[in-house]
Amino acid sequence: MDVLESIRKRRFHRSFTSEPVDEELLARLVWAAGRAPMGGAELVRRILVVTDPDLMRTVRQVTPSFLANSPAVIVICTDLDRAEASMGVQGRDTLSLVDAGAAAENMALAAVALGLATCFVRCANDVALQVVLDMPKNVRPDILVAVGHPTPTPTPPMKNPPAVIYRNGFGKIWNPPTLPLPGARPAATAKTDVAELFVNILYLVASARDCIDEPLIYGPFRMIEGVSRMLEGARGDVFLSQMKAEIDAQKYSVMGDRVSFARWLDALLRDFAAEAKRRNVGPAVPAAAVDGRGR
Ligand SMILES: Cc1cc2nc3c(=O)[nH]c(=O)nc-3n(C[C@H](O)[C@H](O)[C@H](O)COP(=O)(O)O)c2cc1C
Repeated sequence: MDVLESIRKRRFHRSFTSEPVDEELLARLVWAAGRAPMGGAELVRRILVVTDPDLMRTVRQVTPSFLANSPAVIVICTDLDRAEASMGVQGRDTLSLVDAGAAAENMALAAVALGLATCFVRCANDVALQVVLDMPKNVRPDILVAVGHPTPTPTPPMKNPPAVIYRNGFGKIWNPPTLPLPGARPAATAKTDVAELFVNILYLVASARDCIDEPLIYGPFRMIEGVSRMLEGARGDVFLSQMKAEIDAQKYSVMGDRVSFARWLDALLRDFAAEAKRRNVGPAVPAAAVDGRGR
């Protein structure tokens, strides 16, 4: 699997099967972590693999933000004394954290290629974790990576807000071109477009008729389901793909609670409105246009 495809597919999981992660896969993950760059090329990173079920339970208990039930966790730590000795305070407080993030992301991406699931967990209580895992005081647990096999029904993905990207100066918005996502389904052919359009139109026409006799709340559901179906063809667009995932994860909630469904639709609309604004930003106004001469 190509790295761009791993990036596209990576989602964090909070629901895992109880199957242990076999040794070879763990070995590959720690290899991937070791391939991450290190500021100053100094060996300040320490990697601690935890698979013992009792220890895992205790690690979860002292880490309230550990929301996953994974059978293993890989803790990326920094030897603070070595980091400070070789790279000063900046090395200890900043570079080492960037290092840890790079190592964690390497593992998260490798896990996708290995068919494993991961989730980052930022330890809320370093002291307790140090005690539980027998770490010396000069070793800081920077980030935990929960590892295991994904459950057949994945945790619904959380939304990624679109990145704010500037170019040639902070505040100067850049909208990079939307490129096809690696490994995503190829764009539909014209023939398929029409075939899919036909099916979607039929769904909408039938829904329009049914809405007259059905309970009121089915109407919004049918419309949002129609949106989801139309978004099938938009897999090359990062924002629309995220919206489709969000809609598919939440659309049935209308059956449970009408008020929450309305609130969720409000949030969805806000995302679309913000995206519309982002997409409609024109090219930066040239200096001549704002100093009076260009107006
Ligand atoms: C530095 C960092 C710390 C995180 N800490 C936690 C955490 O403590 N618990 C958790 O469930 N998720 C944690 N996450 C995962 C984020 O919540 C996750 O990336 C976000 O929900 C987006 O989901 P996605 O990565 O699947 O797109 C962390 C992520 C990062 C980058």
